[in-house]
Amino acid sequence: MSSATFDPIIGREFIGRVRELARHSDSTTNYTRTYLTPAHQDASGRIAQWMREAGMAVRVDAVGSVLGRYEAAAPGAKTLLMGSHFDSVRNGGAFDGVLGILAPIACVAELHRRGERIAVSIEIAAFADEEGARFQTSFLASRALVHGSGAIGELLGRRDAEGIPLAEAMRAAGLDPSREFAGLDPATLAAYVEVHIEQGPMLLNEDRALGVVTSIAAGTRHLVKVRGEAGHAGTVPMPMRHDALAAAAEMVLAIESRCSAGGSLVGTVGILEVKDGTGNVIPGEVRFTADIRAADEETLRDASRDVFARCEAIAKRRGVAIEVAKTHAVRSAPCAGWLQDRIAASIERVIPGAPARRLSSGAGHDAMILAEVTDVGMMFVRCGAGGVSHNPAETVSEDDAALAIAALLDFLRHFDR
Ligand code: GLV
Ligand code: MN
Ligand code: MN
Repeated sequence: MSSATFDPIIGREFIGRVRELARHSDSTTNYTRTYLTPAHQDASGRIAQWMREAGMAVRVDAVGSVLGRYEAAAPGAKTLLMGSHFDSVRNGGAFDGVLGILAPIACVAELHRRGERIAVSIEIAAFADEEGARFQTSFLASRALVHGSGAIGELLGRRDAEGIPLAEAMRAAGLDPSREFAGLDPATLAAYVEVHIEQGPMLLNEDRALGVVTSIAAGTRHLVKVRGEAGHAGTVPMPMRHDALAAAAEMVLAIESRCSAGGSLVGTVGILEVKDGTGNVIPGEVRFTADIRAADEETLRDASRDVFARCEAIAKRRGVAIEVAKTHAVRSAPCAGWLQDRIAASIERVIPGAPARRLSSGAGHDAMILAEVTDVGMMFVRCGAGGVSHNPAETVSEDDAALAIAALLDFLRHFDR
């Protein structure tokens, strides 16, 4: 690491910005920033200000994403799009998403300070909704940017936990949900590049600051409703019950068991709610989410089929009804070979001595949606604290942040496609 070239002051300032942005939170006790809340709008304003200070022209798109543009050295050049998301999961980590917005802003600020322009125009997209934690709308903002208003129309009726429809939340935030708009013209794009915290322990365990992403795993999310029969906790004999929660509990374990088959397959129940749950009432209705992912579509499809067949069998045996609705699906996305090579070359120039580590991503990223229309590349930054993410302990060191900025700046200066 001693031979690596980076500026520690840039790293310190960068972490300062990440921590400052995390203070724009829906919660007073943790970092939670969900789509279109007041904290989310404040963060949007702060990001726009940093983009302007970095010499960028800034606009906010129809769904609230912030887009900053820095023109190429010569007119008529294509656009290199970079970015990530500024919404978070509930009680999340400060770096997830934000790193991929603030790192390119830091690079453009440096180019601007030196009066440099590169071979392509740079556009930085701060995507307003990727986690989809409030309305269960993963990748809403990148889908809107890539595919236009048609891609989000069916989501507008979704409601948050308070029953507020998405369309109403958009209006309250000064956006017009009825506005029609076109998606990106892929012919204008040179590529999309996303920098992201690794969200796992690989780089940490191998003592590497940065890595090159090879591909991103496919994923689906389903909402499962289990309907049994509510009843008195003291009077209904155990064999006569149709307990929706006991059935759901068995289903959760079936998901865990089937998705423990190995390889890249993973399955998670992240939300489980008992409707009208009361201590002395047999649960009558339960809803839970099932998030299943795998590196390839076939493994994902087979696992999903088995999981829901097992859930149906459990429901039948216990005399409860089950309803399964797919709420989200995203295909696996390979990162373009030429971008992997260029990102690797930049990492190797900044951290000489070993070939850059290449690794796949189990987490989803906006890059998956951009991959539907252009070549994508991703750089991972080491995740501290044992590699935890979607967790308030998630962290990146000042030195690693500075190395990521140095490698991204090197990548931009060599970008001549
Ligand atoms: C995004 O964080 C995801 O992988 O769900
Ligand atoms: Mn995340
Ligand atoms: Mn993320």
